[in-house]
Amino acid sequence: MDRIPLAIIGCGGMGHRHMYGLAELTNAGLSRFELVAACDPWTSNAESLADDAEGRLGKRPAVVGTLAELEKLGVAAVDITTTPPYHHSLAVEALERGMHAMVEKPVGLTVKGSNRIRAAQEASGRVVSVAENYRRDPINRLGKALLEAGVIGTPRVMIHHTMGGADKMLISVWRHQKNQSGVLLDVGVHYADILEFYLGPITTAYAQSRLHEKYRLNPAAGGGENASNPAGVYGKWQKDMPGRFEATAEDASYATLTFASGAVASYVEDHAVHGQGVWTRRIYGSTGSFDLPNDRSGNVITLHKDGESINDGRLLEMVPDFRLDPTTAALFGGDRLWRYDFPFNETDRKLLAVEYGEFGDAIATGQPVEVDAYQGTRSVAISYAMLESSVAGRAVTIEEVLNESLGEYQRDIDEGLGLV
Ligand SMILES: NC(=O)c1ccc[n+]([C@@H]2O[C@H](COP(=O)([O-])OP(=O)(O)OC[C@H]3O[C@@H](n4cnc5c(N)ncnc54)[C@H](O)[C@@H]3O)[C@@H](O)[C@H]2O)c1
Repeated sequence: MDRIPLAIIGCGGMGHRHMYGLAELTNAGLSRFELVAACDPWTSNAESLADDAEGRLGKRPAVVGTLAELEKLGVAAVDITTTPPYHHSLAVEALERGMHAMVEKPVGLTVKGSNRIRAAQEASGRVVSVAENYRRDPINRLGKALLEAGVIGTPRVMIHHTMGGADKMLISVWRHQKNQSGVLLDVGVHYADILEFYLGPITTAYAQSRLHEKYRLNPAAGGGENASNPAGVYGKWQKDMPGRFEATAEDASYATLTFASGAVASYVEDHAVHGQGVWTRRIYGSTGSFDLPNDRSGNVITLHKDGESINDGRLLEMVPDFRLDPTTAALFGGDRLWRYDFPFNETDRKLLAVEYGEFGDAIATGQPVEVDAYQGTRSVAISYAMLESSVAGRAVTIEEVLNESLGEYQRDIDEGLGLV
């Protein structure tokens, strides 16, 4: 099979993690790609990714700084894992150069930026896949199958409450800056995607948003240990980040969301609570409810129905036709799973491998991707709808945010990006 020449653009934490995912897929004999370039204007990051890739993939990709160089190398597909302010300009340029693009979430920093990518995708006819990993978790696949099988009847209410964080830095300084992708966008798009994955299109949002912690602390500054560091790849950068810095992005949203189906969600995303943290993702239907575990944990769904709580292999008996897709099944060790047990790093790279598998299949066969530019843009619009609602002081429709007729909260970000 001819390999698709691929470049990773943005060689920070997620760039490295994506490369680990590519290696996972390659080692399983399922990759259609050959990593030919690592692209980052911060050359030491690109060199780091290239060195690491040589050990894992057996061949060192070229280190480059621009898309023009990628074109000269014959790159046909790019994986954009830069910080969000660069997603739209890089994706549009890649598409205009005839390349396919996988883009990390949020697909664009704002709705306007995301809509630029949608337009460029439509004009180019190339594949755009948004790297949304949470819905690909086998446990979420099972949850969706249970819902579709009618195990809890007609869905009525979803509760999605996450609270934690106190005044600590979440991974990096930029996740607390409004003009670089504040935490309610960075994390919120995952949850927006999950809400629509389970219950279909969201139509309205009414929210109060807050910036509780105006200064954040980075305990890893100067070599301390305790900063949030998923997959263990961020420590080398975190030690050089400031120990205390100003936050400009809101860190909490409290919302009511409605769905086209008539269902309602209670949504709390608060990254600033001190004291007891919260994780609740629960769906109530007309005949029962289930609790969904944290994404990427491998923990178990608990079904509550007819006075019973079920959280074991009996869940599979309720969905006899449930099958994971072949790539997920090969990587996670079975096509019917109700739990899995891997270290976080391994789960992380398996899910990223699944994304690469689907992206390669879409390029090779023309089959549609699951999270396309439109769906990725919806998640951006839903996250901003909560912030726009808080500014407007009213319930807003997702449609008015998506079609850019409401965008007061995003205006200064768009101005900074040169999009207005
Ligand atoms: N899906 C997930 O679970 C998940 C987890 C973490 C991050 N992410 C996403 O991945 C993206 C990157 O996050 P991160 O944590 O790796 O950030 P990071 O700060 O660790 O790395 C970003 C990298 O992008 C590079 N970069 C900036 N501008 C560039 C440009 N114009 N061209 C090429 N490279 C450029 C930087 O030099 C840096 O190396 C974000 O969109 C983030 O939301 C997703």
